[in-house]
Amino acid sequence: TGKTAFVAGVADSTGYGWAICKALANAGCKITVGTWPPVLGIFQKSLASGKFDEAADMILDDGSKMVIEKIYPLDAVFDTKADVPEDVLSNKRYAGLDGFSIEETAEAVKADYGKIDILVHSLANGPEVQKPLLETSRAGYLAAASASSYSLVSLVSKFGPIMNEGGSVLSLTYIASEKVIPGYGGGMSSAKAALESDTRVLAWEAGRKYNIAVNTISAGPLKSRAASAISKSDKKSFIEVGIDYCKANAPLAKDLYSDDVGQTACCLLSPLFGAVTGVTLYVDNGMHAMGMIQ
Ligand code: NAI
Repeated sequence: TGKTAFVAGVADSTGYGWAICKALANAGCKITVGTWPPVLGIFQKSLASGKFDEAADMILDDGSKMVIEKIYPLDAVFDTKADVPEDVLSNKRYAGLDGFSIEETAEAVKADYGKIDILVHSLANGPEVQKPLLETSRAGYLAAASASSYSLVSLVSKFGPIMNEGGSVLSLTYIASEKVIPGYGGGMSSAKAALESDTRVLAWEAGRKYNIAVNTISAGPLKSRAASAISKSDKKSFIEVGIDYCKANAPLAKDLYSDDVGQTACCLLSPLFGAVTGVTLYVDNGMHAMGMIQ
């Protein structure tokens, strides 16, 4: 209650970022988000049009509507203003936006709120995700790492100084980092492995430097916009196959909802978990525990 959160990677109501915002709002946090410029316009339009109200996506437990206090444009592949190339600056989806690099976003959040308590990284991008690792180009591999892993390092480094002691950072990862998940290509499996390793090192470094916790949730499959983009086969998409497989084979044979992850995130970000840092926590109905399926 009374805490301020910045959630990076929210652009619609279908993903994990949104569910985390909702759970934090239910717990009384002030919610601010960072949204990727190419999807910022449509997100703002959807919010204004009441699209999310109809599906009850915005309604909190007490019947009130979730308030997103501020939406910052954020492109997490740029650390500072100087990193933004000319062609991006002049791109019509970026033109006219104020400072969307990570450093500028942290400065803007500081100007508006002073310090924050909670930082969530709920973003990933792998331009060649549909290609097997063997066919992934160097550029595609590095782009996946840049958007999906280094972005966390950079966020913690720029937001660390504006976080209150006792604060908490959380990201989202996927089990393809440690076990082979065919179809999760483009170097995204590598990017998630880096993200999990970085979570431990950042826990140590940011723990000592800022007295904040850094954890990651390894979430089960969810049909978000990002996941739907992974592959389109004739029959079922990559994410549909994953969802059905988990429901059929996980210890808890039930649907996994984004709110399941939102609620766990809220717990993990709370003082109740104040001595937990550097962990990868599975929120997957137990699927990770299986070595052989029946
Ligand atoms: P999502 O589509 O709701 O979230 C991904 C967000 O990343 C989007 O809003 C997109 O605009 C943003 N983004 C992409 N590139 C960006 C950039 N350069 N700068 C700023 N934002 C950028 O989808 P989802 O699936 O909820 O993803 C959230 C996190 O959860 C990701 O880290 C994803 O890998 C992870 N995850 C998702 C699973 C799933 O099955 N959907 C399973 C396990 C982890």
